[in-house]
Amino acid sequence: MNRIDTIMARMTLPEKLGQLTMTASGYAVTGPVIAGDSTQAIIDGTIGNLLNMVGAGPVHEMQRLAVEKSRLGIPLLIGLDIVHGHRTLFPIPLAEAGLFDDALWERTAREAAREGAAEGLAMTFAPMLDVSRDPRWGRTAEGPGEDPWLNVRIARAKVRGFQGTDLSSAESLAACAKHFVAYGPVTAGREYAAVDISERTLHEVHLPAFAAAVRAGVATVMPAFTDLNGVPMTAHVPLLRGWLRGEMGFDGVIVSDYNAIAELIKHGVAADLVDAAVLALKAGVDIDMMADAYRKGLPVALEQGRVSIDEIDASVRRVLRLKEQLGLFDDPYRRGAVPEPAAAVAERHRLARDVASRAVVLLKNERNTLPLPAETKALAVIGPLADASTEMKGPWWGAGEHEPATSVLAGLRAALKKTELRHAPGVAIDSADDSGIDEAVALCDGADAVLLCLGERATMSGEAASRATPALPGRQQALAEAVTARAHVLGIPVIAILFSGRPLVIPWLAEHADALLAAWFLGREAGHAIADVLTGRVSPGGRTPMSWPRAVGQIPIHYGPRPTGRPMNPADYYTSKYQDVENTPLFAFGHGLTYGRFSYDELRVDPPRVREHETLRVSVGLRNDGARAAEETVFLFAHAKLSRVTRPLLELKGYAKLRLEPGAAGSVTLELPAAELRYLGPDLQPLFEPGEVEILVGPSAEATGLLRQTIELC
Ligand code: GLC
Repeated sequence: MNRIDTIMARMTLPEKLGQLTMTASGYAVTGPVIAGDSTQAIIDGTIGNLLNMVGAGPVHEMQRLAVEKSRLGIPLLIGLDIVHGHRTLFPIPLAEAGLFDDALWERTAREAAREGAAEGLAMTFAPMLDVSRDPRWGRTAEGPGEDPWLNVRIARAKVRGFQGTDLSSAESLAACAKHFVAYGPVTAGREYAAVDISERTLHEVHLPAFAAAVRAGVATVMPAFTDLNGVPMTAHVPLLRGWLRGEMGFDGVIVSDYNAIAELIKHGVAADLVDAAVLALKAGVDIDMMADAYRKGLPVALEQGRVSIDEIDASVRRVLRLKEQLGLFDDPYRRGAVPEPAAAVAERHRLARDVASRAVVLLKNERNTLPLPAETKALAVIGPLADASTEMKGPWWGAGEHEPATSVLAGLRAALKKTELRHAPGVAIDSADDSGIDEAVALCDGADAVLLCLGERATMSGEAASRATPALPGRQQALAEAVTARAHVLGIPVIAILFSGRPLVIPWLAEHADALLAAWFLGREAGHAIADVLTGRVSPGGRTPMSWPRAVGQIPIHYGPRPTGRPMNPADYYTSKYQDVENTPLFAFGHGLTYGRFSYDELRVDPPRVREHETLRVSVGLRNDGARAAEETVFLFAHAKLSRVTRPLLELKGYAKLRLEPGAAGSVTLELPAAELRYLGPDLQPLFEPGEVEILVGPSAEATGLLRQTIELC
C-alpha cells in the first residue's frame, strides 16, 4: 500500500473530518490562537489545515504539534491570502493586469511565493480570476479587469509563478484559482449579491480562465460565496462536479470560501449545518474553511445514510495527496527552514519598484505637462493621498500589514532633493470637512505645478467594499475644483494622480486636469515608482485593464459589447444611446499614454485566407515621433462579421510591446493561430466557421485608433 492508503486505513472519522477542516489562526502575545478551537485539536488530529498563521516561528510551532504530537503525524496545510505579495507588496492585481506582461505577472507571483514559503506557508488563496465589468464592486481591485482573454493569460502566469515547476520545492506554494465562478457580475455591483447571467456569458467570459488554471496545473480551486442563477457555488454540482472535475478533469482540492458552507443556510437551500455539509460534500467541496460544517454535520449525515464514508474518503484522499505533492510528508519544515538572504529581499524590493512604475497609467497629458521639467523649483503637493503610505498597500496586505510603504511625498522628497515640496492634504479622504481647502489652495502661489493626490482609502475596495457611487469620496471634488481654479489663474499645470482599487467616475477631473494618472495602489514602492514616472526616469507604459465610465449609469461597461440591431447613429433618433451621456467610456480598455508619440502604419495580415490549423501573422509598423524613448503596447483584436450567434464587436486576441527611441521606427509582429478565432456556437460548443473576420490593431480598444484588415476563414 502507498503512504496515503496506509494512513487512511488507520484514520478514525474525527481524524478524517479534521483533514477536511481549515481553521483561522493567529499568534497573540499569549501564544497561538485557533479560531473557535485550540491547539489541542491539532494534536487530536481534528484540525488538519490552518489559514492566516504568519511567521516561520508560529507556522513551524503549529506544524510540530501536528507532526510530532498527533497520533498519525499528518502535517498541516497552512495557507494565507498572498494576493499581491507577502511582505513585499506589489501593485494590486488590477494594476498588475495593466502591465500586459506575462513574464512580470509570473515573476511577481514567484517572488511572493518565495517570500511566503520562506515563512513556512504552503498555500496561497490566489490568483483571483473574477472578470469584473462593474467598478461598483470592490473586489474589482483583486482581479484581472474586464477581459476574459487577458484573464486566461494571467491565470496561466500566476499559477506557474506560485507553483513553479515543482510543487514540493521550498519556494513553491499551492495556488488557488478563485472564486469559482462568475462572482464579478454580482447584482448592482453589490458585494455577495446574487448573480444572474446567461450560460453563454458564463462560458464566454467567466469559465475560460479557470479552464486555463486547471490546464496550468492549479492545485486548488475555491468556489465563490455567491449563487449563480439560483444555485450557490458552494453547492453547485453541475459546475463543480460536472464542469470542473468532469469536463476539465480537475482532481485537485476544492476549498470552500470562509464559512461559505454554513452560509448555504442563509442562501435558503440548507435547513441546518447537516444539510449544508451534505450539499457541499456532494458538490465536491473537500475542505470546509471555517464553517465547522463537516466536523459537526457529516457524522450525523453519515448516520442518516445521506453521505457515504467513500464520499468522505475521496475528499480526504485529495487533501492528503496535495500535502504529499507539496512535500509536507517528506519534510514538513522544508518551507521556512532557511531565512531568505538580504540580497534576495533587496532585489525583490527593486522588482516591486520596477513593476509599480510600469503599472502607472498615464490617462491624459495635455501639452506634455509630464514629465516634470528638470528645472522645477517648487511643487504644491496637495490631497489626502499625498502622504498616505499605508493606503498605498491597497486591500489584501497579507503579511505586509506592518511593512513599510513609500508615500508620494516621500518618493518625491527622495527624487527631487532640490525642489521645494509644499504639502497640505486639503481634505481627509472621505470626510465632509472642507475647512482645509483654502490652506491647500494657497500653496499654489509660487509653485511651478500642482500635484493633486486624490482617491480612495485602501479599504474602500477589496472584499465587502462595494460603492454605489465610485467617484471621489468626501470633499475631494471640491478640493480639486478650488485648487484647479487657482492653478489655472496662475497659469500652472494641475497633475492629478488617482489612487483607487477600481476605475473612478471622474469626468470633471478628466476634463480640467492637465495631466491625469491612475496609480491604483502600487504597494511597497508606490512613492518611488510615481516619482520615477513624474520625473521621466521611467516612461509610463501601463494600460487600463478596465473601461472608465463617464457616469455610474453606464455600468456595467466594457469594450466589445454585443451588437444591437440599432447601433448608435446620431442621425437616427431610434438607435442605442443615452440621452445624457455618450455610449463610449471616458477611457477605453487598454488606454494609456507614454512619453513618446507613436504613429502606426502598414498593417499586414497574412495569409488573407486561413484555415483552422494555420496561423495568421499580423504585423504593423510603428514610429516614435516623440522627443522621448517609450514603450508602446500594441493590441490585436478580432471581430467576426457574420456568425450564428451575436458576437462581441471586439475580442482581444493578442498584445505585444515595442520600445523605440525618439524618431526611431520599428514593427511588431503577432502570431494568431486561426483556431483562436473559434467561437461558441448556438449549442455553446467551439465552432470554427468559414467567413470574414476583421483583424484590428492599435493602442487600445478605442475604435478611432484601430487599423483594420479583413481576412477570410476557410
Ligand atoms: C475571504 C475571501 C477569499 C479569501 C478567504 C480567506 O472571505 O472571499 O477570497 O481567500 O476568505 O481569507
